Amino acid sequence: MIGHLISLHLGITRDLREAVCLAAAELQGAYAIVVIEEERPDRIIAARNGAPLLLGLSKNGNYTASDASALLQVTRQMVYLEEGDVAELTSDNYHVINITKNKLGTKVRRVELETDLTREAVELGPYAHFMQKEIFEQPVAIANTLEMVFSAHSLSPRLFGSEAESVFQKTSGILILACGTSYHAGLVAMHWLEAISGLPCSVEIASEYRYREPIANPDTLVVGISQSGETADTLAALKYAKSRGHRYSLAICNVPESALIRQTDLRFLSRAGPEIGVASTKAFTTQLAALMLLAAVFAKLRKTISKKQEQKLIDGLRHLPVAIQLALLIEPQIIEWAKNFSHKRHALFLGRGVHYPIAMEGALKLKEISYIHAEAYAAGELKHGPLALVDKEMPVVAIAPNDSLQEKLKSNLQEVRARGGELYVIADADSSIQESKGVHIIRLAEHAGMFSPILHTIPLQLLAYHVALQKGADVDKPRNLAKAVTVE
Ligand code: G6P
Repeated sequence: MIGHLISLHLGITRDLREAVCLAAAELQGAYAIVVIEEERPDRIIAARNGAPLLLGLSKNGNYTASDASALLQVTRQMVYLEEGDVAELTSDNYHVINITKNKLGTKVRRVELETDLTREAVELGPYAHFMQKEIFEQPVAIANTLEMVFSAHSLSPRLFGSEAESVFQKTSGILILACGTSYHAGLVAMHWLEAISGLPCSVEIASEYRYREPIANPDTLVVGISQSGETADTLAALKYAKSRGHRYSLAICNVPESALIRQTDLRFLSRAGPEIGVASTKAFTTQLAALMLLAAVFAKLRKTISKKQEQKLIDGLRHLPVAIQLALLIEPQIIEWAKNFSHKRHALFLGRGVHYPIAMEGALKLKEISYIHAEAYAAGELKHGPLALVDKEMPVVAIAPNDSLQEKLKSNLQEVRARGGELYVIADADSSIQESKGVHIIRLAEHAGMFSPILHTIPLQLLAYHVALQKGADVDKPRNLAKAVTVE
């Protein structure tokens, strides 16, 4: 369609750049287009609106791509195009115009910058898959994300931007908008924000929020969580929240040049490094680290924690990379578990409280890459329906840390065993849950307290990875899914 439209204009103007400008001006919705004319293969015209597109510059030629990681083999010098930009590139030159005000474009200057990403960051190295690499990179990714906290020895709102302190002082509630795995991070954060800082918090799926008529409180800070910062629904939901009356917004994002980062008043960059596997792993745990930090900063500001508790939180954050490293040691046990899952058609994941979203994330990981139908339930809901599905063919994964809900969870697990369901329990080191017939237990190396959702994620990522591997699935590129969903 777009090709035909450009060709129609080309028939009149005879100039490819003009034809692309005129065609782009007629398009509705998000696009990133790259066009080459048969007669002039030495020239590329690239246009963007709502979808990411950038230029890569080097002595040996100029390039265009939707993501910097695609160009690291050839250059680290990038130009990020903005909404309505049209770029013309030859091997030794480029220029950019913008068509927002004038259909044929007005010349604009865009900053050339050297990306922080390195070639090694997007290479597999000794790993078999990017997902495996990214799971094992989590200790470093978290350490990088929290580096500023470690050096500052205190929880400063400035970690979220220079304006953050004055915005946070006025904040009376939090609304989190996100999709997919990022939505699960938001659900965990809701528990933390309410319990630690006493701020009321709600979390919504961005694609739902943007089509309802929510009541906005101007002092409720809107937090957009997105690994890519380019998810169309999340971007639109944040704009919509502003139009409904929310005064301030904050982005938790892993891509510094993304649309989300440019769109919000405040921002926190997780520093997970490029995530290439479609199933999100290190982006999720670094989002959680950032969100724990947000809860802790609000708690300090609102004086809901003492100096001693603040120090304990900082110590806990500092210990996280080591704790994750230890959690990764359970891989051999997970490989054994995976053998019992690879031939199954369904699996149930159970959790309670702050670990219910972790069960959701575990189920999402398994279904995304192994194509096993997996559902997560808040364990207390088991008796209201899903128990009917439980028999010996149904593996049930339970996230069972030593928290205030453990005794309740134990009786939920007995309900599963009584129906013949095989239980796979992820417990803390000092858990009172015992292994028995039909009850398999993996104990994490440590009892992680309030950081437990982060640590309990690791076995679930490994489980999904090894089940998919045993099934021979394409772990990094699961069918029908995309890494960044820039369309509705
Ligand atoms: C896609 C990805 C998921 C991701 C979701 C939201 O569906 O496959 O891994 O969680 O988008 O992406 P975001 O970049 O906004 O976190």
